[in-house]
Amino acid sequence: MELQGKRIVLGVTGGIAAYKAAELVRLLGKQGADVQVAMTEGATHFVTATTFQALSGKPVYLDQWDARMPNAMAHIDLSRQADLILVAPASADFMARIANGLADDLLATMVLARTCPLMLAPAMNRQMWENSATQRNVATLAEDGVALIGPACGEQACGEVGAGRMLEPEEILEEVITFFAPKVLSGKKVLITAGPTFEAIDPVRGITNLSSGRMGYALARAAQHTGADVTLVSGPVALPVPAGVCRVPVRSALEMHEAVMQAAGQADVFIAVAAVADYRVANAADHKLKKDHGGVPAIELVENPDILADVASLPAAPFCVGFAAESQNLEAYAQAKRQKKKVPLIAGNLIQDGFGGDDNRITLFDDQGAHPLVPAPKYVLARQLIEHIAKLTGNR
Ligand code: CTP
Repeated sequence: MELQGKRIVLGVTGGIAAYKAAELVRLLGKQGADVQVAMTEGATHFVTATTFQALSGKPVYLDQWDARMPNAMAHIDLSRQADLILVAPASADFMARIANGLADDLLATMVLARTCPLMLAPAMNRQMWENSATQRNVATLAEDGVALIGPACGEQACGEVGAGRMLEPEEILEEVITFFAPKVLSGKKVLITAGPTFEAIDPVRGITNLSSGRMGYALARAAQHTGADVTLVSGPVALPVPAGVCRVPVRSALEMHEAVMQAAGQADVFIAVAAVADYRVANAADHKLKKDHGGVPAIELVENPDILADVASLPAAPFCVGFAAESQNLEAYAQAKRQKKKVPLIAGNLIQDGFGGDDNRITLFDDQGAHPLVPAPKYVLARQLIEHIAKLTGNR
């Protein structure tokens, strides 16, 4: 519920991407937003108001003279109640109208009468986007403080390829979440490790663990949403790269160590979430091991470097945060780890509470003691951990 209680007016204008706005209503609603849809006349030629009414659970506003508004001032009422007006798709014509302050339909009137921010997701044919008239309007809107998200490049409904495609609904959702998140890590460089490592035995086999990477990826998203510049050094996982995050894919603990040490010098905050293998195979084979070659192979192990401890002991170390996944005695083990690795903050959890799942139960340990967080989805916990880091580093 990343948008709980946020009131969003979603304006839909005439373009084929209007069908994607239907999915956007569902995604915004799923995150707790209260969505009121307003359509231009043009939009109704692509998708019906019934679709949006069914998905938002509210009547859709279509024209200025809607008799349902008690004081016949729908434009004022609707835009005054909103925390954000989001227009997706925003057609070339609509952008031209609002860039010039026209109020010739309900949506344009609401935009002109608004007291809240305005975000546009343009969608049009690439030639229309490149046209100097559109570009003039884009510049005017940007100057007026309107947030423009996209357009993306790619294949268009008309068969052409170029800039003009509306961002995907999931990408627009990320932009909206970012818009509302307090920028407690604004301008900070945050380095995060996530996922398992894979220690090769031979070219096809290895030692790994069941870390899903979800907590580290949730933290990368949360840090990005709160204004940080995020680098995510990730072991092998099957998760999409969070929007705006720079991912450095690695496999082994040694590769992870190298990637982290290269970036650590510039980082303000380092969060070690990865489940790094404590040992690697000393005698890894260059060729695939064959079963009938000389009996059961012996695997020799050698210790991996401790990435978190190495970063924490750098002369100008970033603010370091570790994770402790334990099966028992959480507080004692977590506090011991905090002291041993010389890090100011450890997020501890019992593996039976969160490993691999979407939800987690974590407790933060710092020099003030234990701060248990209410069990929640990993993203919600990630945002709370970011808040705690911001507080300890003096950003809050
Ligand atoms: N960590 C790391 N590099 C390693 C091992 C651990 O950066 N080689 C980080 C993890 O990302 C995590 C914390 O250190 O933030 C966990 O440390 P630790 O508990 O030592 O890892 P475990 O192997 O789980 O330790 P133990 O077996 O003692 O419980």
